[in-house]
Amino acid sequence: MFCLFSSFIGSWFTISFILIIYILLAKPGRFLLDLNPIYLRLPLPNVNDKIFNRNKKAFEAIKIEKDKIITPKSLALDPDDLNRLFVGSATGYVYCLQNNNVVETIASFPDGRPLGMRLFRQKLYFIEANSGLYVFDLDTKSLKHLLRLDQTKFLDGRPSKFFDDLVIVEENDDIIVYITDVSRKFSIDMWCYTYLEPDSTGRILRYSTNNQNVTTILENLCFPNGIEITDNNESLLICELAKRRIIEFKLDGTDKGKCTVLMDNLPGEPENIRRSRNKTKESYWVGLALTRDYNSKLSFMDDYSAEPNLRKLILRSCFLLGTILFNIGNCFGSETLKTKGSSLKTGIALILDDFMKNPGMAIEIDRESNVLLSFQIKDDISVISEIAESYDENKNARILYTTSSGGNLNRITLKE
Ligand SMILES: *[C@@H]1O[C@H](CO)[C@@H](O)[C@H](O)[C@H]1NC(C)=O
Ligand SMILES: *[C@@H]1O[C@H](CO)[C@@H](O)[C@H](O)[C@H]1NC(C)=O
Ligand SMILES: *[C@@H]1O[C@H](CO)[C@@H](O)[C@H](O)[C@H]1NC(C)=O
Repeated sequence: MFCLFSSFIGSWFTISFILIIYILLAKPGRFLLDLNPIYLRLPLPNVNDKIFNRNKKAFEAIKIEKDKIITPKSLALDPDDLNRLFVGSATGYVYCLQNNNVVETIASFPDGRPLGMRLFRQKLYFIEANSGLYVFDLDTKSLKHLLRLDQTKFLDGRPSKFFDDLVIVEENDDIIVYITDVSRKFSIDMWCYTYLEPDSTGRILRYSTNNQNVTTILENLCFPNGIEITDNNESLLICELAKRRIIEFKLDGTDKGKCTVLMDNLPGEPENIRRSRNKTKESYWVGLALTRDYNSKLSFMDDYSAEPNLRKLILRSCFLLGTILFNIGNCFGSETLKTKGSSLKTGIALILDDFMKNPGMAIEIDRESNVLLSFQIKDDISVISEIAESYDENKNARILYTTSSGGNLNRITLKE
């Protein structure tokens, strides 16, 4: 009897062992993701640090077009008309708002994700994560697809799979668009794996609107997300989300081509970065996801960042199990199983909890990487993706519009 029992345990152990080895070492394929996790050391700032402390500020927000705009991701303010706003939603729409009301739907992409919007000379430049770079002419109302993701194939044989943000710069009669190309491995639906591996195929592209030429100016980035240009037009500031830092790339000047770290060990994952409206003091708004100061809850990445092999095992198993469940659900027509399968398959199941317990945060930083202001939004636990600053002449107050993954378009009046 004992013999039988121990051989049963023994064989169960052997099977698990073989399975683990297989999941870790087998070649990538339909059921196993192409992952090579790296060791990361990403300490969080000290709890008494000013940035963590966030001046204990939480602002009330007015939710704009709550029922109409579902999960706003990106936004652009019209510099000439502070009551006009352009917003891209995760449901695939690009809206124009006037006085906080939607007045027009400019573009729509079934299953698309409009991101990275910038208004430049009456033209709205934006990204659709799955298809590339677009421009919408506000005067002629025409939409043009400037750059398709697969057009980057000639660069090194591996086309881009996920564009995220852009910034426009004028250079000698040419309009240049700098783009954050997040991955050549995973599309936006699989962003969790780009974040958790992390995938280091991210890069910065330079696109010329004059001759449609695309070049790579910076590579090997781990989830480059937001991008902004400095006032002297000499540097790009880039949020490298998976490394929880902001880097600076010199476009011009003495250190041309050099890349340095502007700020690291942020208390959350930096999403987007945008210049504030303060003309005399150069400062930037950065939206953070998963801020780790809320009840000091740590996230999946804090627990496993120094364990690359364990991460590979967890991520591959999650995708494998998700794929199997999804296919079974598909076979038997079970929506529940399909939903569960897809939440595992996309990796969201691994970090959903982190999003629920760690709210977003906005920080304002200067060129010397001092934190000037930081705050959260009252009664809102979601991510703060992007921040655009406006101004209320009557109240003499700074106004911020914020977008959020899974949240609302918010309008906040800053009070010191
Ligand atoms: C930077 O470029 C913008 C156009 O992209 C221009 O309006 C601005 O004057 C430039 N700033 C400097 C300091 O050259
Ligand atoms: C595009 O840029 C590359 C690198 O700067 C250059 O070698 C190439 O000639 C350019 N192509 C066009 C069409 O301008
Ligand atoms: C701009 O920043 C300076 C220095 O921090 C501050 O004194 C000034 O009030 C700010 N102006 C606006 C309009 O926010």
